[in-house]
Amino acid sequence: MIYLDYAATSFPKPDAVVRAVANTMRYCGANPGRSGHRLSIAAGSLVMQAREALAQYLNAPDPFQIIFCLNCTDALNTAIGGVLRAGDHVVTTYYEHNSVLRPLHTLEKRGQISLSLVAPREDGRIHPEDIASVLRPNTRLVVVNYVSNVTGRIQPVSQIVQLSHAHGALCLVDGAQAAGHLPLDVEQLQADLVAMPGHKGLLGPQGTGVLYVREGLMLAPVRQGGTGSESQLMLQPDDMPDRLESGTLNLPGIAGLLAGVRFLQAHADELHAQQAFHADLLASGLRDIPGIHVYTPEGLAGRAGVVAFNLGQVDSGEVADLLDRDYNIACRAGMHCAPLVHRFLGTENQGAIRLSVGWATTRQEIEQCLLAVGRIAGQLG
Ligand SMILES: Cc1ncc(COP(=O)(O)O)c(C=O)c1O
Repeated sequence: MIYLDYAATSFPKPDAVVRAVANTMRYCGANPGRSGHRLSIAAGSLVMQAREALAQYLNAPDPFQIIFCLNCTDALNTAIGGVLRAGDHVVTTYYEHNSVLRPLHTLEKRGQISLSLVAPREDGRIHPEDIASVLRPNTRLVVVNYVSNVTGRIQPVSQIVQLSHAHGALCLVDGAQAAGHLPLDVEQLQADLVAMPGHKGLLGPQGTGVLYVREGLMLAPVRQGGTGSESQLMLQPDDMPDRLESGTLNLPGIAGLLAGVRFLQAHADELHAQQAFHADLLASGLRDIPGIHVYTPEGLAGRAGVVAFNLGQVDSGEVADLLDRDYNIACRAGMHCAPLVHRFLGTENQGAIRLSVGWATTRQEIEQCLLAVGRIAGQLG
């Protein structure tokens, strides 16, 4: 099979990830941070190693600002629910995933917050000045997508972080399609909060996610319970990471994530360059096929490893089904959980076919995929 659905989750995982999950389940399955026996201490130390590796990979100054979550949705909900208070105003963009739009719209519907949505201009970019123009005195949070999961477009997040801070607002970056695909340095970015899945570009197993929380920022916990620390307290402890990590952690998943991050650390530059090259090959090859419309921006600087297209007016699901059935190519079609991007592209009914590359994608696979799309275009176009 040719797997071009890395934006949904990475597959396959490096062997080291699979081994780390299996070895943890076999040999180190105690509950981390709960008991005093040696196996529990070993499990706790594994979690700490993963926290340290992630802090190093993301250039976070303190490993205790790395919070383990269930996925990126959970990390985003932890951030949004932890920051917002009644009466706050929030700014976000058309590029957001439903894991941002739905929690924010729910809070708005309950009358707890007010919300401004910034649309891209005709060039497909969110212009920082358009965000600046809707900031209000009570704007507490700006939420911005780093790399679009539909078109792969990279947004000017650094500028958006800076203008949010200049206004006294916090900035939450959705790094779902950036982490592991682009260099992501949280110190340089200066974002207050960065959410990311562990199971996509970071190459960990499903059921893992990460929230980076800037030092000194105190979030209200959206989930409360056992932390293995300060058990005499009736209220959630203040200390990080326990404040935001209630309940038994996904130890096998975190062990796999640690192996994924180590794999990335060993090969980062080469992997980033290879994915950019493959996405470029894909986007330019698709543009040469008659009848194909590519939604992904041209040029390496403006986008990451996601390429979206349509074939004339053909339903995107039909093309994806043919790629799967006749060519054994796995990709995703439809709405991609980001309805406002489709409103902007005018693809609310048709959806779009998304091809996304990853660490194990080869040039030969891209060439085979382009041949397959060419044949389908000849057949249906
Ligand atoms: C931009 C973006 N944000 C958030 C998410 C949610 O990630 P998860 O599936 O890990 O919850 C995704 C998933 O595809 C995404 O692409």
